[in-house]
Amino acid sequence: MFWNRPLSLLAVVIAQAGFPLLCHAATGTASQRSPLPTLAPVHHQNTSVLSIEYYDSAPHNTTAPVAILVHGFPYSIDTFVDVVPKLAAQGYRVIAPSMRGYGSTAFLSPTTPRSAEQAALGKDIIDLMDALDIKKAIFAGYDWGTVAVNVAAALWPERCSGMVAANSYLIQNRDTAWAIAPPAALALRWYFYVFLTPQGYSALASDPKGWAETLWSKNSPNWTYTEAQLDAAALAFQNPDYVEIATNFYRNRLLYAPGDPQYARLAERLDKQPVIRVPSVTLDPIEAVVFPPTNGSSTAKYFTGPRVHHEVPGCGENIPLQKPQVFADAILEVAALGRRQ
Ligand SMILES: *[C@@H]1O[C@H](CO)[C@@H](O)[C@H](O)[C@H]1NC(C)=O
Ligand SMILES: *[C@@H]1O[C@H](CO)[C@@H](O)[C@H](O)[C@H]1NC(C)=O
Ligand SMILES: *[C@@H]1O[C@H](CO)[C@@H](O)[C@H](O)[C@H]1NC(C)=O
Ligand SMILES: *[C@@H]1O[C@H](CO)[C@@H](O)[C@H](O)[C@H]1NC(C)=O
Repeated sequence: MFWNRPLSLLAVVIAQAGFPLLCHAATGTASQRSPLPTLAPVHHQNTSVLSIEYYDSAPHNTTAPVAILVHGFPYSIDTFVDVVPKLAAQGYRVIAPSMRGYGSTAFLSPTTPRSAEQAALGKDIIDLMDALDIKKAIFAGYDWGTVAVNVAAALWPERCSGMVAANSYLIQNRDTAWAIAPPAALALRWYFYVFLTPQGYSALASDPKGWAETLWSKNSPNWTYTEAQLDAAALAFQNPDYVEIATNFYRNRLLYAPGDPQYARLAERLDKQPVIRVPSVTLDPIEAVVFPPTNGSSTAKYFTGPRVHHEVPGCGENIPLQKPQVFADAILEVAALGRRQ
């Protein structure tokens, strides 16, 4: 049922290639260690739709405050490898799920539509919390992860003690999906449009790691990521639904693919761009390309609770991997905002 990360094979390849044998895994037994900067070990939990792969820093601790960290595209849970120990040291139970289409997260049924619509990404977080019997957590994400945590925080505020989101608010009203944008802005989102085409689909299928390399470089121009970081993420792209989910995200947002009917009512609520009323810390990386940095004023109307906005210098779109301390600090900051409420 599950696709398993071929770690041992990769370890041999990497060792032969002469890369240093790094192990950033936050916990794990010797047999689960890998030479790549991965979050391990992972667990699995069924929801009504998925078997979700997730990392859990303290699976048996039912009293620790919980932070759920949600990755973007084309990245993986390994994005959080240096964030987890910082939060765990502060007493947090840190959970990082692989989104649908990534890692060994798997659809339970072959007939479930492979939808990456915003409602599904948010609902997956709540479904995982239900399955793990977690009542409330801090949600933190970037890129697709921002979409997921925005949706979960807006529609289920009673499950969210605080939200951290790069680029503030990315919930989409489908009525504005085709709004005219300046050519320079569209040029930065070139891959959204490539993924609408059969050629884009095949190109992603034929070289997912190459796509990641290009998008990491273009979307975070000054970031000197390592080959090992790229290899760790690339493992998550071997999921049989990866290409379908990755392309569906853009096809759905641009109205080239309908949503899954089971999320239709949630999708309609999201079209109204619901406000987020939980304490929020929002981050705009200065060197991000797809969503240029702002001072937060343009998204202020979406936040009705306490909200602090920071611009993050020297950083592209993947804040947790490029600036793990900034991302961890934002989570501690939102927790403090909540305590002051
Ligand atoms: C998850 O669901 C699958 C398919 O229904 C089933 O085979 C598996 O045993 C379930 N796993 C758990 C832990 O319940
Ligand atoms: C659970 O986490 C809290 C800190 O958040 C810690 O004080 C406690 O000792 C942990 N409990 C167990 C059983 O590890
Ligand atoms: C990259 O860093 C340099 C030096 O800090 C800076 O001048 C430049 O604006 C940065 N590039 C981008 C795209 O942010
Ligand atoms: C924030 O940016 C907007 C336009 O981008 C500008 O009008 C506003 O004055 C800025 N606010 C602050 C506090 O700098």
